[in-house]
Amino acid sequence: MFLRTCGRSLKFLNCQPLVRSRSIRFQGSLHGSTKNVRHSNASLAAVAASLISGIVLGLYTTKRLRSNKQTFPLSSITPLNDLSPPQYGTDEDFANCIKELMELLPDKSVTTTEVEIEHHTDNGFNPSKPLSHQRPKCIVYPSSTEEVSAIMQIINKYNIPVVPYSGGTSLEGHTYSTRPGIVLNTSRMNKILAVHVDDLDAVLEAGVGWQQLNEYLANHEGMENLMLGCDCGPGAHVCGMVNTNASGIAATRYGSMGSNILSIKAVLADGTVVKTKQRPRKSSAGYNLTGLLVGSEGTLAIVTEVTVKLQVKPAYETVAVVQFPTLRDCTNAVATLFKKGIQLNAVELLDTEMMKCINYSNLISKSYENLPTIFFKIAGLNEVVVNEYIKEVKKVSQDNDCKMFEFAKSEEEAEELFSARKNSLYMMLDYGYNEIDENAKMWITDCAVPLSRLASTLEEVKNLMSQYPLPHMVLGHVGDGNFHCDIFYMPDQYQMCKQIVREMTEITLKNEGTCSGEHGVGTGKRAMLELELGENTISMMRKLKLALDPKRLLNPDKVFKIDPLDESDE
Ligand SMILES: Cc1cc2nc3c(=O)[nH]c(=O)nc-3n(C[C@H](O)[C@H](O)[C@H](O)COP(=O)(O)OP(=O)(O)OC[C@H]3O[C@@H](n4cnc5c(N)ncnc54)[C@H](O)[C@@H]3O)c2cc1C
Ligand SMILES: *[C@@H]1O[C@H](CO)[C@@H](O)[C@H](O)[C@H]1NC(C)=O
Ligand SMILES: *[C@@H]1O[C@H](CO)[C@@H](O)[C@H](O)[C@H]1NC(C)=O
Ligand SMILES: *[C@@H]1O[C@H](CO)[C@@H](O)[C@H](O)[C@H]1NC(C)=O
Ligand SMILES: *[C@@H]1O[C@H](CO)[C@@H](O)[C@H](O)[C@H]1NC(C)=O
Repeated sequence: MFLRTCGRSLKFLNCQPLVRSRSIRFQGSLHGSTKNVRHSNASLAAVAASLISGIVLGLYTTKRLRSNKQTFPLSSITPLNDLSPPQYGTDEDFANCIKELMELLPDKSVTTTEVEIEHHTDNGFNPSKPLSHQRPKCIVYPSSTEEVSAIMQIINKYNIPVVPYSGGTSLEGHTYSTRPGIVLNTSRMNKILAVHVDDLDAVLEAGVGWQQLNEYLANHEGMENLMLGCDCGPGAHVCGMVNTNASGIAATRYGSMGSNILSIKAVLADGTVVKTKQRPRKSSAGYNLTGLLVGSEGTLAIVTEVTVKLQVKPAYETVAVVQFPTLRDCTNAVATLFKKGIQLNAVELLDTEMMKCINYSNLISKSYENLPTIFFKIAGLNEVVVNEYIKEVKKVSQDNDCKMFEFAKSEEEAEELFSARKNSLYMMLDYGYNEIDENAKMWITDCAVPLSRLASTLEEVKNLMSQYPLPHMVLGHVGDGNFHCDIFYMPDQYQMCKQIVREMTEITLKNEGTCSGEHGVGTGKRAMLELELGENTISMMRKLKLALDPKRLLNPDKVFKIDPLDESDE
């Protein structure tokens, strides 16, 4: 009994500063705590403690007690219709905000020039386009966590929407401003803070690029054999990769960005600085806030530092190109290899149309048949070990009727194949422009299904595509059951293409898959995400969003709707 009361009263005492700061930030939060006080049938000590806390805190805050249905209704989820529209600062607030930001960063770190605004408006990869009234009005370039924190305090004070921006290579309109405000470009924060060779990790500022890190490691003694196990669009930065849970070609071996990070330092909407973990590989220390921020697309916090795992480059690696009569033969071969426990370092599928496009690009010296093709990376400790794997891969490929099995003749040739694959998006855009129409657009999709469903899903998708006149190409990280069926359309075929993408997603979901394997949701896939996960799951995400960002300042309108007046069907 004593312990219990003591515990309770201690709890109240400990609570004080928390309750207080909460009541200042989120009006109405006191509601919960006063109720606790009233309902507790504790001993005198506890009552006294609560009275004290009431006197200390309550008296001058009672006037503020009013329910705020936006942040803390008594439910576990936040359905969209429970919200009122967000209230952002007025033009005057905006002007004052910019003024204070300029005082904080008197050099050229705060700009409103047309050119820079234009650069941060639309990276051109998503069919949805920011409208002219949605363009950002100011770009801010912070150089440190402390600066980001100070910036967010000002932005929070004036209620201005802010879009975190890094490499700008995301594909779903993630960085498009939907409400005219500030874009926070974290690219200047690009220092490699520490490389711990013995622990196989590195501490990086948010704006370090994955290629920058790999080059740095390759050029430093004792680090040459280390790399980040995650690769995505050329030019992407680690904070962007964390925020989309990016993956890419090496993910089949090393996992996505989510599995390649140990800890995150981030700034919350009101400027609070947090660090999610220490640096050990293992941790059961509380909630996995690292995991919460992974894939959050700049809607929960500004990431300023990332501790990444480093992977050891394989001592010996070879590349094989294998061509099959059908896509099903390709996926059957891959499934068999996985079931045998054969570890492959990359398994990239390219369909007939994609092979045509590669041949067209002239980026590969050799010309391949126009057949479904897999590029394999097979790696191991040394040539002997790798040769054993090769025998298996070859046998399984032959069992699945492969028409051609060939090794890259040299390291250069292997490099050429994978760099062509890495740049396939640009190849496709080039092909579309020259061979289809100067005005042709491309719709990028990103479905993923369990591996056993991949063959039938791809067949259904091909069947769907055959009912429409739109040219398309399929490529995929098939090791992860992830494929991109990228579709060309003319501007007047936009609705048709949108319909196809919806049907493709439905096929994927029916096969227990996801609308986004690695690119994320942004503005482009919100409706698909809801179709995939259902309203309750989205409302739970919305609850978390509002808990951390009650004013809805951070990358508003991404991942899911935050405004009941938002009538978009995307
Ligand atoms: C040619 C090409 C190939 C690609 N290939 C792949 C691939 O194989 N695999 C793959 O997964 N992706 C691929 N992508 C997509 C893209 O590279 C990834 O989505 C990448 O993670 C985006 O990183 P970024 O630095 O460019 O981020 P940005 O585009 O700048 O931003 C991405 C998201 O992160 C948020 N953000 C940015 N900085 C911060 C920050 N400091 N704090 C909080 N939030 C922030 C943004 O608001 C946005 O929501 C490709 C893109 C291109 C153009
Ligand atoms: C973001 O900032 C960096 C560093 O200042 C700059 O190189 C880059 O061009 C900026 N991004 C855009 C889209 O302008
Ligand atoms: C990130 O991606 C991987 C692979 O797609 C997935 O398993 C994981 O759940 C994702 N999210 C996090 C938080 O790691
Ligand atoms: C937490 O989430 C991160 C990111 O997805 C992941 O790498 C990690 O393994 C998870 N668990 C712990 C204990 O950090
Ligand atoms: C590849 O391209 C070359 C020249 O552009 C062409 O001659 C050849 O027929 C093409 N190969 C295939 C298989 O399409």
